[in-house]
Amino acid sequence: MQQQWLTFARSLASQAGDIIRQARANDGFDREFKSGHELVTSTDLAVDKFLVDEISKTYPSHVIFSEESSPATLLDPESDQVVWVIDPIDGTVNFAQGLEHVAVSIGVYQGGQRRVGVVEAPFLHKQYWAAKGQGAFCNDQPLAAASGKALRNAVIATGFPYVRDNLDELLGYVREILTHCQDIRRNGSAALDLCGVAEGVLDGYYESVKPWDMAAGALIATEAGAVVGAFGKQRAEWPLELNGDHLLVVSADLYQSILEILQKCKK
Ligand code: IPD
Ligand code: CA
Ligand code: CA
Repeated sequence: MQQQWLTFARSLASQAGDIIRQARANDGFDREFKSGHELVTSTDLAVDKFLVDEISKTYPSHVIFSEESSPATLLDPESDQVVWVIDPIDGTVNFAQGLEHVAVSIGVYQGGQRRVGVVEAPFLHKQYWAAKGQGAFCNDQPLAAASGKALRNAVIATGFPYVRDNLDELLGYVREILTHCQDIRRNGSAALDLCGVAEGVLDGYYESVKPWDMAAGALIATEAGAVVGAFGKQRAEWPLELNGDHLLVVSADLYQSILEILQKCKK
């Protein structure tokens, strides 16, 4: 089944990427703000609808957990249900600004495990993908997280939430990372940050994000040899494998050092 889900998810992600490229080429989208400040475009909604329609036609019994149409989906921890976790556009601000770090993220989760992950980057012409136990790839190239790097030379990505009521805490993390590592990147797509760690072009990534931001990328990162964990508390409402609270994804050699640096800021 996993192989079928992967093939289907890869095809859907590539079609969703076409919709996104076309919308930008035709300047064919409207902008709105959810909850007053969080940007959403008509393309986010169109891609969400496309993915949900296609998945529910092909797999009517599967659960869909999608940022735009079903963000409050509650998952039954006892059930063996197959769950499709979707971010139709990860990097909406980048999309609206004409920047290139934009992705479609599709993860498949079942029985306490991330089974499939596909992250399509339509403007970078890259598709990252992984299936549990089968390695991670970008287009047709196998991915491997960085190794043998010194902490001092590490480049760490992060992101900032729409609501910044804990600005001091966020800046504290940035300060510590800049003190110990080479530099920070804020690329604007959590899914692509996770793929960057898988590809070895980033040494680590931390941020608190939602399940749809990380479901696919976390599998791609672990299949490429990176370590996925958390540097702080996680809310109980999501299973561990879909929980993006205090998400920390780092190449295996540097995981413990970055974890300690971030945990120090929490004291
Ligand atoms: C956002 C991006 C961004 C991250 C934010 C996310 P969206 O997703 O992944 O990089 O910093 O936390 O909300 O809103 O563009 O789907
Ligand atoms: Ca997102
Ligand atoms: Ca989104």
